[in-house]
Amino acid sequence: MSKKLIAGNWKMNGSLAANEALVQAMLAGIGQPPAEVALCAPAPYLAQLQALLQGSPIAWGSQDVSAHEQGAYTGEISVAMLKDFGCRYAIVGHSERRQYHGETDEIVAAKAQRALSSGITPIVCVGETLAEREANETESVVKRQLAAVIHTVGHCITEIVVAYEPVWAIGTGKTATPEMAQAVHAVLRAQLAAATTNPKRVHILYGGSMNAANAASLLAQPDIDGGLIGGASLKAADFLQIVAAAG
Ligand code: G3H
Repeated sequence: MSKKLIAGNWKMNGSLAANEALVQAMLAGIGQPPAEVALCAPAPYLAQLQALLQGSPIAWGSQDVSAHEQGAYTGEISVAMLKDFGCRYAIVGHSERRQYHGETDEIVAAKAQRALSSGITPIVCVGETLAEREANETESVVKRQLAAVIHTVGHCITEIVVAYEPVWAIGTGKTATPEMAQAVHAVLRAQLAAATTNPKRVHILYGGSMNAANAASLLAQPDIDGGLIGGASLKAADFLQIVAAAG
């Protein structure tokens, strides 16, 4: 494992003016970060991120990508388009896409494969709902979600990033305890170990109300290799504290 990875997911937030202020504040404070850092913005702002972040220690990416290469898919955004704007990452299978846009495990796997085919690193999100956790289905749900990706991308699995995001912890202020998160990350690592000889190469991020106060204890866990940060990535000081905690 190289450095940890701290990725911000702005979700459907921002404006040209707000993004500029946020990114400039991050750049002013980031110095030589002890972790890899990325920001995933709404697609209309990727050109802005490219202009602001080129040559900086912060990479950037999208929050979704089409499973299709090109053509008559109104509203979709292709990997080639993301490459045009210098994206290194594309989040795929975020629970909000699965929940509100009907994305299945197979669609998510196809998106991950499409990203990999163009050298974009997919950040593949997995995670259980509260009902699934209460029914003791956490392990089977995340394993099913990751298995679809392993099945589709084969030996390229070492090129993905996994993000474990318990749905009940997203945007709620409820965080999985470090021990709860670590237990699931260990399950995912074991699943990767069955698919590749180099499971430690894959960053497994935790997401779900990670913030400046709880980041250090989560990131201290042996299988938590970084964070996928929603709300706290909209505040420069909080995000930079999380990056510092990843050293
Ligand atoms: O992609 C980020 C996650 O959904 C976490 O969001 O930090 O606002 O809970 P949150």
